[in-house]
This record gives sequence, C-alpha cells and structure tokens, in this order.
Amino acid sequence: MSITGRATAVAHPNIALAKYWGKRRFGHNLPAVPSLSVTLAGLSTLTTVEFDDTLTADELHLGGRPAAPGPLARVTGLLDRVRAATGRREHARVVSHNDFPTAAGLASSASAFAALAFAASAATGLSTAPDAVSDLARRTSVSAARSAYGGFVALRAGEPADEVLPATPIAPEDHWPLRVIIAVTAEGPKDVGSSEGMKHTVDTSPYFPAWVDDAPALYARIHAAVLARDIAALGAAAEASALRMHASAIAADPGLLYWTGPTVAVLTEVRRLRARGTPAFFTIDAGPHVKVFTLPEAEAEVTATLLQIPGVLRTISAKPGGGARLDGG
Ligand code: ADP
Ligand code: DP6
Ligand code: CO
Repeated sequence: MSITGRATAVAHPNIALAKYWGKRRFGHNLPAVPSLSVTLAGLSTLTTVEFDDTLTADELHLGGRPAAPGPLARVTGLLDRVRAATGRREHARVVSHNDFPTAAGLASSASAFAALAFAASAATGLSTAPDAVSDLARRTSVSAARSAYGGFVALRAGEPADEVLPATPIAPEDHWPLRVIIAVTAEGPKDVGSSEGMKHTVDTSPYFPAWVDDAPALYARIHAAVLARDIAALGAAAEASALRMHASAIAADPGLLYWTGPTVAVLTEVRRLRARGTPAFFTIDAGPHVKVFTLPEAEAEVTATLLQIPGVLRTISAKPGGGARLDGG
C-alpha cells in the first residue's frame, strides 16, 4: 500500500431559509434560483480521503459499511474533478460518517460533499480556500456549496456564462443566535432523493416556472430580514419559500409529496405557537421532517411542544455553526 495523500475534514449540514429547488437546463449543476441558508453546529459529517496508488477503483465506506454504487459514483465524480485539476491518477479510499440520518431530508449531501471537497483538496494540495471548496462541492450537490462557509450563506442563481459559482457568506455565525429544532418524524432514507425529485419537478410541474419567477423576490426579503435580525419578517418569507417550493413539487406529474401526517401536524402547531406570541417558524426540505427556527428564550417551550405532537419521534437541536475545515482545525 502506498498512500500519496491523506486528509480528514469535518463539515456541517445547512438548512435553507430561501430554498433552492431545480437546476438550470444548461449543465454544470447550476441552481435555477438564489438560496440562503444557515450552517448548523450540532450535526456533522467527518470524512477521511486517502489517495493510494495501489487501488484500482475508488472506495467509499459510509457509516461503517461499503457504500452502494449510487453514492460511490457521486463521490467518484468529485474525485475525478480533483484528479483532472491536479494531474493525479490514483484512486482514493474515502471513509465517511454522518452523526445524523443520511439521505433523509436533513441535508446530508450538503455536509458530505463540503467535507469531501475539503478533504480531497487538502490531500492533493489543491486550494482549501472556502470559495474553491464551495465551487468544487457545488458541482456534486448544490446545497453543499453553502456548507463550505459557516453562519449565514447565500448562493445566487446560475447564469449561462458561469464557469465557477461559489457561495458567499453574508453574516457570521454569531450574527444572530437563532436556534433550529428539528422535529424528526421518520427514521430511514426518503424514497425520492433531492436531485431526482427536483429533476422530476423541472420536467413535469406546470408550477415550476412560477416558482423560478417568484423565488428571487422572496430571496431578497429573506436576505434583508436576516441582516436586520427580524424574526417576524424572516418567518413569513421563509415559510413562503418552503411552501412554494413544495407546491411546485406537489404539482409535478405524478405529484411529489415529501410530507406525512406528522409533518402537517407540526406545521399547524408551529403556527399555533406563533399565534400565542412565541417566536417560531418552520421550514421543510425534501423529506418529512420539519425544522423549526426560534430564539434561545423560547427553545425549551418549542422543544417541549414539538415532542408532544403524535408522530414526532425525537428532536435534534442545532444553532449556527462554522464552515468546512480540517478535523481538529
Ligand atoms: P439529503 O436530504 O440527506 O441531503 P440527498 O438526496 O440530497 O438527501 O442526498 C443524499 C445522498 O448524499 C446519499 O444518497 C449519498 O449519495 C450522499 N451522501 C450523504 N452522506 C454522505 C457521506 N457522508 N459521504 C458520501 N456521500 C454521502
Ligand atoms: C430542499 O443540494 O440536495 O434541501 O444539488 O441535486 O444535490 P442536489 O440537491 P440538494 O438539494 C437541496 C434541496 C433542499 C433546499 C435547499 O437546501 O436549498
Ligand atoms: Co441534499
């Protein structure tokens, strides 16, 4: 065995306040709409990449087991870009672990490919500057571009002329002590992955063009509300972004419904909390879980309320966190 480069990186998932859903029709994995997220401390992916000139193919161990061909192919896609940029030919052994559910709508692709982009770049001497890691990660999973950075992070829509498109940090993690409480409503992976779900939406939903037309204005409201630390304005616009994204998916043919009964029960309860004066709003990704944003003084009340809803199995608490980095760095 001859190891020619090795690095271990950590990254956190991020939750979008302004949702990305759908790619531009021209290649390069460019998003059709602008998005804005917060990177979350409290959930992590840890990834080690080892280039080894005795390997005859890339290997991926995910959560202690050899990964299926689909996830391995996605990892190889990123490693092929690193090999092309550095002139290397060696294959790599990748060992990765998520300390939260994988492929379940909790943004594992975001932390996974931000960590992999960082580790593979560090192992081969490519730049580990956040914009370089962000652009490399974005080519495999668009949401991963945002996890290269900590705090509040924006990613504009792609344009036909874009060669590179990294995310942009808009405020650091200590800008606003928002709390995120994830109401976990199912265990196990979702049936339809994000890439597949959005492709189906682009291809078949008559509401997809309306989503693309409307998203920039919602994005602008969300950006302004984050900078102003205005939770009422942010909640109204972020809930609209999540609901309009899901409306476009639900209107696909056949309709794509990521929600279950408990998902809807949580949405109803969050609105009830808000009507009682508790600062809380929801967002939903491509999965049945609901992420509830609140402020530190209401965290205990919101958590207790969520845990009483039938179908909420457990909660995970998170707050704004840092960007992708070397493990221990
Ligand atoms: P999620 O909502 O979890 O982001 P996606 O459908 O977007 O769901 O992405 C899930 C996919 O991301 C997995 O099927 C796998 O290909 C990839 N993935 C997730 N975690 C890892 C990891 N730690 N290392 C490599 N690939 C991963
Ligand atoms: C609903 O980034 O997972 O979480 O680019 O195909 O990998 P690919 O999809 P992904 O999609 C995330 C969609 C979302 C909203 C968001 O994170 O902005
Ligand atoms: Co994802």
